[in-house]
Amino acid sequence: MKIRVPATSANLGPGFDSCGVALDRYLFVEVIEESYEWLVEHELGPEVPNDQENLLLKTALELVPELPPHHLKMTSDIPITRGLGSSSSVIVAGIELANRLGNLGLTQESKVTLATKLEGHPDNVAPAIFGDLVIASAVDGQVDVVRHYFPDCKIIAVIPRQPLSTEKARHVLPSEVPFKEAVAASSIANVMVAALMTGNLPVAGQMMEKDRFHEKYRSQLVPHLAVIRELAHEEGAYGCFLSGAGPTVLVLTPENRCQKIQQLLNALELDAAVEVLAVDREGVQVF
Ligand code: HSE
Repeated sequence: MKIRVPATSANLGPGFDSCGVALDRYLFVEVIEESYEWLVEHELGPEVPNDQENLLLKTALELVPELPPHHLKMTSDIPITRGLGSSSSVIVAGIELANRLGNLGLTQESKVTLATKLEGHPDNVAPAIFGDLVIASAVDGQVDVVRHYFPDCKIIAVIPRQPLSTEKARHVLPSEVPFKEAVAASSIANVMVAALMTGNLPVAGQMMEKDRFHEKYRSQLVPHLAVIRELAHEEGAYGCFLSGAGPTVLVLTPENRCQKIQQLLNALELDAAVEVLAVDREGVQVF
């Protein structure tokens, strides 16, 4: 059995802790054989444990402590701590592992509820489970999710080589937002979602850049965002935004602008990889 979970980009600008999209970078977890003790074989670096301290196993065993030990193999091309949902993908894989080995028969909705409880917010785990664009709300323990087709466009990811911890990027956020500001910020998010759902990328892109919940507080941690945004505007992109807590920035472009914008982003020499990604439409899969 092999479990595949996509990368994700959360927030999409103003949809803080609520909106996300699945992308075509993947975590794979292969179940090799039953074993005397748990072993997670991987080449993801010394900071990723290969015993029960691994987040994958922690997640699976929290759901079903008596799961029989197995030898697993984990591979991933989702960059770690770059704002592309690498830890969410592991949580989702852990839930699917417990689901399959423990015959839990979980629905997609119950997977999202469990994953949101573990992750703290639904905007990465929900698209990792459902695929595509997901708008989610997790309030008072109740998780509600709407999935929709993300409109066709090119997605350029500028992925800095330096990581940025989500904890650090959440620490700079205010603990409260004044009522008037909250109304303005949520109205922008509402229009962004409506524009995405009607395939209106020019308006969606504009709204993505008007976020008032998080980007301005994080700007000192991600100085490249302003530079990329300026270039994206000059070259006719729909819009760009911080992917999750950063440091990755996503630029949405019309098909015919993508190549030129990618070249120009590369020419900025930002110490970052510049890659074209596609929307994953399937979410978590088991082969
Ligand atoms: N919504 C989250 C944030 C995503 O921006 O902090 C990263 O976990």
